[in-house]
Amino acid sequence: HPAVDPNAAPVTLTIDGIEVTVPSGTTILAAAEAAGVRIPTLCHHADLAPAGVCRVCVVEVEGSRALQASCAYPITQPIKVNTTTKAVRKARRHIIDLMLANHYGDCYTCARNGNCELQALAQEYGVDGLKFGRTTEPKYEIDRSNGTIVRDMNKCVLCGRCVRTCNELQEVGCLTLDGRGAQSKVSTFADKALASVICISCGQCINRCPTGALSELDQTDEVWALLDDPSKHVVIQTAPAPRAA
Ligand code: FES
Repeated sequence: HPAVDPNAAPVTLTIDGIEVTVPSGTTILAAAEAAGVRIPTLCHHADLAPAGVCRVCVVEVEGSRALQASCAYPITQPIKVNTTTKAVRKARRHIIDLMLANHYGDCYTCARNGNCELQALAQEYGVDGLKFGRTTEPKYEIDRSNGTIVRDMNKCVLCGRCVRTCNELQEVGCLTLDGRGAQSKVSTFADKALASVICISCGQCINRCPTGALSELDQTDEVWALLDDPSKHVVIQTAPAPRAA
């Protein structure tokens, strides 16, 4: 959560009928945590500055016409927040559905299977991603070039957590968000393979990726790939055993 001055004027608000008092400037998401109310998130990460891009954390603020992203909404006056109205749940389902529609990958063979935030959200909201039609073809080539990190942008949900980790937290700066709208994608600068940019293989982007878009290179896969490729096999010549006299 963004740093808040603990001495800022206190504000009392209600979240799902629960009254909670927080310093002015606290986000609705942080206030909800303090009140023991869980709001689902995706682009939010405790280590990173809020981005407010995925909209999974939307809530209703009474008196406001549009739903608000709770992770990026600082409280400055007493408000009433509802986190589970029909409109809120419908909006979240819609958002998760759209993400799944754009997500190409097989959960069963994914390194993140069982530990994927998108998968968990889809299960929680009963969304199968069929409403908008699942992507059936990969758009991007998988980048295994750097020998440690695998980048599969077909599974990316554009939350930007890796970009913020690489730039703000690690101060390496080899990832960026490129393009607009449907063409948006996380890329290395000039869209080069990871091995050709200044990535230091710290792996912190993997830790913060909510899906399998970034994962550790599975060395076992590499060994199997070598075994499957006869051109890489080394033939060891052994001398024939001497014949018995
Ligand atoms: Fe709030 Fe993504 S978690 S907008």
